[in-house]
Amino acid sequence: MTNAILEAVELKKYFLTSRGTVRAVDGVSFSLEETETLGLVGESGSGKSTTAYTVIGIYAPTAGKILFRGTEISRPVAKRPRSLKRAIQIVFQDPGTSLNPRRTIGQILELPLKVHGVGTKRDRKERVIELLRLVELPPEYAYKSPHMLGGGERQMVAIARALATEPQLVILDEPTSALDVSIQAKIINMLLKFQQEMGLSYLFITHDLSLMRNVASRVAIMYLGKICELAPTAEFFQRPLHPYTKMLLSSIPVVSPEEEALKPEKVVSQGEIPSPVNVPSGCRFHTRCLEKDERCSRVGPETVEVGEGHLVSCLKFAPQLASAAAAPGSGEVEK
Ligand SMILES: Nc1ncnc2c1ncn2[C@@H]1O[C@H](COP(=O)(O)OP(=O)(O)O)[C@@H](O)[C@H]1O
Ligand SMILES: [Mg+2]
Repeated sequence: MTNAILEAVELKKYFLTSRGTVRAVDGVSFSLEETETLGLVGESGSGKSTTAYTVIGIYAPTAGKILFRGTEISRPVAKRPRSLKRAIQIVFQDPGTSLNPRRTIGQILELPLKVHGVGTKRDRKERVIELLRLVELPPEYAYKSPHMLGGGERQMVAIARALATEPQLVILDEPTSALDVSIQAKIINMLLKFQQEMGLSYLFITHDLSLMRNVASRVAIMYLGKICELAPTAEFFQRPLHPYTKMLLSSIPVVSPEEEALKPEKVVSQGEIPSPVNVPSGCRFHTRCLEKDERCSRVGPETVEVGEGHLVSCLKFAPQLASAAAAPGSGEVEK
């Protein structure tokens, strides 16, 4: 029995479009333990935001399940109980569009309190000031509108809004990637402080793998709608196994000589992420993989546990499957 606050089980989200079926999320499983940060990392277009929006209930899943503290919640947000909506909040990537330009910051922060019937009007006003103080913004900001604020300040308002309902799980969808580097560290530190103080669990989505080193307890790498590797953070940086992970890691700066020694040799990044309308056969990474062999375009790898909590989906690490695939039609898994 785990202590998971959130579990995704073979979660799928497809979009039917004029171009065909977009398999944005195509069988994603992970769990998030109470008070931990799970990093969900991948290139643009890998399905990270779609995963987030499905968890929060903006989308109903095409298949699979979402569990919150063991209870299935795989339905859109309109059909979720109010207590659940309070408990799971999201911070979007772009604070420029996520705050209503026609409302003041005070109104924006008060709205979730109103929706959830928190306190009297006066209580709510006090709570708004408290929320501003929490994110280190002066009380008079309550009267400003979003366009009067800088990008970093807007994102702090978005964070304050997410915290207004005292959630337990916060989904952070690239919360700093639209911001200047100078402000990124400040926001990350604030998020870590809130996590400690409020016992929050974070699903932290980013395309910036190096950010995860000091933030996540475990890291999951997403590629074209699937997780290809998942491991505790230290293990992840010391013993990356999936060829795609190695490709991503070889392009980020190292922090110490020890890491330099462990770092995968420079792997040349090749090609671009294919369209989720035309997902490659077999292993979906094979079109860009530098370690592929002839099986990889035919056989989709199972996910195997190669060490404590270290999961990888690559035929190289599934020997029995690989040998079965080497003899197509034999129907037997070799021992
Ligand atoms: N509402 C939608 N309708 C059709 N396709 C979508 C929709 N939302 C996302 N997609 C497609 O799904 C894929 C994954 O998108 P997304 O989840 O936003 O990725 P990420 O957040 O990792 O950049 C992309 O190819 C994107 O174009
Ligand atoms: Mg996204």
